[in-house]
Amino acid sequence: MPATIVVGTQWGDEGKGKFTDLLSKEMSMVVRYQGGHNAGHTLVVDGEKFALQLVPSGALYDHIVPVIGNGVVVDPFVLLAEIDMLTRRGVDCSKLRVSGNAHLIMPYHQQLDALYERHLGKAKLGTTKRGIGPAYADKSMRLGIRVQDLLDEMIFRKKLRASLVHTNKVLTKIFNRLPVDPDMLADKVLSECLEPLKPHIADTTDLIHEALEAGQHVLFEGAQATFLDLDHGTYPFVTSSNPTAGGACTGAGVGPRHIDRVLGIAKAYVTRVGAGPFPTELFDEDGDRLVEIGREFGTNTGRRRRPGWFDAVMLRHAVRLNSLTELAITKLDVLDTFETVKVCVAYDINGERTTKLPYHQSDVHAAVPVYEELPGWKTDLTAATERRHLPAEAEAYLQLIEERVGVPVTLASTGPGRSQYLHFSSL
Ligand code: IMP
Repeated sequence: MPATIVVGTQWGDEGKGKFTDLLSKEMSMVVRYQGGHNAGHTLVVDGEKFALQLVPSGALYDHIVPVIGNGVVVDPFVLLAEIDMLTRRGVDCSKLRVSGNAHLIMPYHQQLDALYERHLGKAKLGTTKRGIGPAYADKSMRLGIRVQDLLDEMIFRKKLRASLVHTNKVLTKIFNRLPVDPDMLADKVLSECLEPLKPHIADTTDLIHEALEAGQHVLFEGAQATFLDLDHGTYPFVTSSNPTAGGACTGAGVGPRHIDRVLGIAKAYVTRVGAGPFPTELFDEDGDRLVEIGREFGTNTGRRRRPGWFDAVMLRHAVRLNSLTELAITKLDVLDTFETVKVCVAYDINGERTTKLPYHQSDVHAAVPVYEELPGWKTDLTAATERRHLPAEAEAYLQLIEERVGVPVTLASTGPGRSQYLHFSSL
């Protein structure tokens, strides 16, 4: 009953979708365990680009059962639009299963997300405005509405009314907006979403355990990333769920003993969208080149991502937080034309050098990166398919990462296509 977790190790957009898709060849089931449609997982299959927000990346294979776990927050309109889009493009979504325990994102969650951001002014977090935070907040306040509630009209209407007593006070009294009519919203959701969603709603925890008990291989696909984790990220500049590997257990309903492999995905440099500390951030020409060559604009929101050099201090911490067994390095080819490449190996903080990520956020803000600089490889890597094809400089770059981070690099990608990757060891 082997299970693997794929987790982002930086601030998101590491290319998790590509490796989930790649690993899916050997899997039976792919499970999203947290987040919602704030994610944007891009896959390129036979030159065709797919940008998935809610449907697990493995869905493009016929043999995969794609599962949206209980830890995900689901906007039913977005999910149905995505199923529609995939179906029109020839992907069979009939096997997709959505946990009845997953919480629903309602239109007022999106409205509140935008209002809270506007209210924060300069202190805004830079959320994706998809309603993620307000939906998880309702879940924690026990005011959330679950996917299973759709199956019982009376319960659904009752819960929506109860939840809106609170939300309508916030909308009208704090933000001076019109209240939401619970019955009109219930009519809309039930008439547009219930029938098409019904065949997909299931007890996904049971499905996952049945698969594991039958010896099938299950992949847990993380969205967002380690340093956007609500508990372990750079709070408050984080998302409202737990993308770290532990989140796979709670967000799918499996114990940690089922997990035997945790693959961390890291970009060969770092990017971040939205506000928050970022020790290796670049404001120079190198940063502009990373954005331009790496096409670092959000899949989801189109925002320019903030660029920086690879940060091995953060990555070592990500190894601890996730029990990473190995790393996949993505977008190695983006560094192809650089004269030199840098890896941050320590921070200088108020006159003291450390190789550990400080727990105090003020120290993270104050951290000055200490770099090891290596010669660039100045070679086009996009056609490389084996480790021995790599120029010595690229090999040295990966070895430095392995040495500083403490886990082996077992995969690397050199382009967006399904075949553009290097397999480093026989796992
Ligand atoms: P939220 O998840 O929309 O609440 O946004 C909270 C923070 O997480 C913001 O800084 C977003 O830019 C960031 N974020 C959320 N989802 C993603 C993602 O998929 N990739 C990168 N950043 C993300």
